[in-house]
Amino acid sequence: MAAVKSWSLALVLLCISLSHLVNAADDSSGGFGASFIFGDSLVDAGNNNYLPTFSRANIPPNGIDFKASGGMPTGRYTNGGTIGDIVGEDLGVPNYAVSYLAPNSTGKAILYGVNYVSGGGGIMNATGRIFVNRLGLDIQIDFFNNTRKQFDKLLGSSKAKDYISRRSIFSVTIGANDFLNNYLLPVLSIGARISESPDGFIDDMINHLRNQLTRLYQLDARKFVIGNVGPIGCIPYQKTINQLDENECVDMANKLATQYNGRLKDLLTELNGKLPGATFVHANVYDLVMELITNYQKYGFTAASKACCGNGGQYAGIIPCGPTSTMCNGRDKHVFWDPYHPSEAANLIIARQLLYGGTKYISPVNLKQLRNL
Ligand SMILES: *[C@@H]1O[C@H](CO)[C@@H](O)[C@H](O)[C@H]1NC(C)=O
Ligand SMILES: *[C@@H]1O[C@H](CO)[C@@H](O)[C@H](O)[C@H]1NC(C)=O
Ligand SMILES: *[C@@H]1O[C@H](CO)[C@@H](O)[C@H](O)[C@H]1NC(C)=O
Repeated sequence: MAAVKSWSLALVLLCISLSHLVNAADDSSGGFGASFIFGDSLVDAGNNNYLPTFSRANIPPNGIDFKASGGMPTGRYTNGGTIGDIVGEDLGVPNYAVSYLAPNSTGKAILYGVNYVSGGGGIMNATGRIFVNRLGLDIQIDFFNNTRKQFDKLLGSSKAKDYISRRSIFSVTIGANDFLNNYLLPVLSIGARISESPDGFIDDMINHLRNQLTRLYQLDARKFVIGNVGPIGCIPYQKTINQLDENECVDMANKLATQYNGRLKDLLTELNGKLPGATFVHANVYDLVMELITNYQKYGFTAASKACCGNGGQYAGIIPCGPTSTMCNGRDKHVFWDPYHPSEAANLIIARQLLYGGTKYISPVNLKQLRNL
């Protein structure tokens, strides 16, 4: 059960968000520099492979449709590319951002960007404890601080500063695990839940995040895209354990996400006013994923409740995707790949909205525009 849950942690929807935005360095078109990716399993590209943790995706059939690996698992919690990968490809970048903990995240490889993401991680340090190991956002930013120094060595301090502040995008996809694998977890967080109201807990999250984003700003980050928390009450895991009908979602989980998302929007407005030269883009992952789930047929999906790869219950939502899981036939017909994470087909739709879409889902500018600022 622990192993099962761990997966879950992952992050599901959140991820969706944008994290990934941009991966690469595209000197031909306006000199895009690097993509620095922070967050949770929605955008993990393999850091957890290097941690002793229960939250891992480096087992088949994960990655079965991922061309870059020839269908082998890489640590991505989906059948193909993450939103970050897809955004990078669309921008024509040559390499995916390297995972910080991977041995090849050294030397010039970091000029295309670095991925600090960890499945199971959250805004709060305690989030994801049930996985034993994961990197929370504080630590992800400590790691970026190391990378920042490497940039000074590689490029010299004035060129490095320009590269980081004007030619790079920082994406942060985080928050879902703070609910799924912290506040809503009956065993580990019961203390916090007894002593803290949702308001108090969300206050803590926002105050931490303000501090975390300000630290990135102090390290010369200027172009940010921050994803809100997706409809975590609608993932196959939640629908299965709560024995819901197809068209129902878990109210309490979605309410917490919505409440946090409102505060996040205010925080980004505040930071846009307060930190000179910075642009904080808000990615409305919640509404985007909810639209995919509600109107799935319009987007060519046949299933929006059931995991393609998983086992247990009505929606295959209990046991994470692995070698013994049952797998659906049409992997591109399912919104969800596993009990927690979207399929590559869903990631594609999400990524394109974030790249090219209007202010309903990405504001004040989309990622293409952010890149060209
Ligand atoms: C870095 O290593 C990972 C894991 O082996 C691999 O998937 C990736 O393609 C490598 N990236 C670069 C830029 O060498
Ligand atoms: C969270 O962990 C980081 C890294 O270990 C540490 O620097 C930070 O002070 C911790 N934050 C809290 C609130 O405990
Ligand atoms: C980055 O690391 C240095 C120590 O090397 C430390 O003094 C500084 O406060 C750190 N900056 C941030 C924003 O964490």
